[in-house]
Amino acid sequence: VSCPLIAPSLLAADFTRLGEEIEAVAMAGADWIHLDIMDGHFVPNISFGPAVVKALRPRTTLPFDVHLMIAPVDPYLEAFAKAGADQILIHIEAGPHTHRSLQLIRALGARPGIVLCPATPPEAIAEVMDLVDIILVMTVNPGFGGQKFLHSQLPKITRLREMIARSGRDIRLAVDGGIDAATAPLATQAGADVLIAGSAVYGKPDYAAAMAALRPDGAG
Ligand code: DX5
Ligand code: ZN
Repeated sequence: VSCPLIAPSLLAADFTRLGEEIEAVAMAGADWIHLDIMDGHFVPNISFGPAVVKALRPRTTLPFDVHLMIAPVDPYLEAFAKAGADQILIHIEAGPHTHRSLQLIRALGARPGIVLCPATPPEAIAEVMDLVDIILVMTVNPGFGGQKFLHSQLPKITRLREMIARSGRDIRLAVDGGIDAATAPLATQAGADVLIAGSAVYGKPDYAAAMAALRPDGAG
């Protein structure tokens, strides 16, 4: 697998053809499929739920990276795991019992991940580092695709990269929001090894070329 990994976000795909849109990025070299789940409560937008994840599951063998922007999360973890989520990411801001939720995700057989909103400092996740396989830094405020990359988040990526190194654990560091050919190199230089991109992939006519443009050498 080439580094960084590319995870196209379905939020920017054609919602009338989600299955085909997954197959298209899989053919074009995507590493993960990123699915954004929004509840109209934790974030001011509503996307789709476990039934859609389940319907899409047979379309690819690529890992489903399910980003839960919902609160509370615990009542829905089993549904997303059963729907075929390989990785379930929850927000540190979504409730007081993140530790329990992450343990529950692991017990359900999925890989747990933790997400930080732009206003949250890196140290906020220090006590759950031993429970996660993925850390996701939001480089926009969650809720919508197509927003501008927040450069203020770059030092946080670097700090989390140091925290991961000190943990001695194999943890992926992902960025999500406003990732395009101009901002991807900034995120990877800061320490990110997974790039999540919605409009920069699905907003382009050629998905393979769009993903190649996000990789450091621009060539895939
Ligand atoms: C935002 C979502 C992102 C979104 C990214 O709340 O978490 O995954 O789809 O979209 P772009 O890449 O267009 O900023
Ligand atoms: Zn996302």
